[in-house]
Amino acid sequence: MKYVLISDVHANLPALEAVLDSVKRQSGIAATYHLGDLVGYAPWPNETVALIRSSGIPGVAGNYDSTVGTEYKHCGCRYEDPRQEELSHISYDWTRRHVSVGTKEFLAGLPFRIDLLPNGGHLSGPRVILVHGSPTLNTLYWTEDRPDDFCLKMASHAGAKAGDVIAFGHTHIPWHREVAGIHFVNTGSVGRPKDGDWRAGYMLLDVGSGAPQVETVRVEYDIERTMLAIRESELPDDFAEYLRTGGQPAVTR
Ligand SMILES: [Fe+2]
Repeated sequence: MKYVLISDVHANLPALEAVLDSVKRQSGIAATYHLGDLVGYAPWPNETVALIRSSGIPGVAGNYDSTVGTEYKHCGCRYEDPRQEELSHISYDWTRRHVSVGTKEFLAGLPFRIDLLPNGGHLSGPRVILVHGSPTLNTLYWTEDRPDDFCLKMASHAGAKAGDVIAFGHTHIPWHREVAGIHFVNTGSVGRPKDGDWRAGYMLLDVGSGAPQVETVRVEYDIERTMLAIRESELPDDFAEYLRTGGQPAVTR
């Protein structure tokens, strides 16, 4: 069973459109799921949610989705420095002011976790567990350098065993590791990558027979359209430069 996993679209509509076009050209896809953070940092939160809904893509709640949806006091993001913190607050306030009632209700209703059983419920496995950050919290940054013990603790919490897959996003950097036969897959980000590659990213996950196969796909999109729209909005211009450099701007004010 071949799945497409997309995460952290962050209201970047041109990036999402390019990814969905790319997915249409893939063969043998059973289903596409999103792993949350549909909104924030770019000026199309309502359009992004509308496209996800009209495309029939189920998914889980990212920290941005659940905090906007519940009118929490901040987005639950981590900040590297005071300027980043200031920018985060501006983005969060902007997003909260611009989401429609329908968008907000949709975000609030997203589940924390989705489990897939590619071989059907009559067999005990394999199981694919979809969350945003980790099985315990959607704000937890699960980076590739986490020790094996951390991965196994998360797997135990999630009820995962050898042959299963836990897929998540949140850090905006794609990676795949196997620990004790359990596969840990970070899908990267569609609309705000942080690995130095500006292109939109998604994951192909083939699971059900043999060892899970994971493939990262990167897609060029009309980034100029996104950068222009950010500059023409009340969102900070910094977010445009952030996209252009794949999350690694030379100077962070
Ligand atoms: Fe995110």
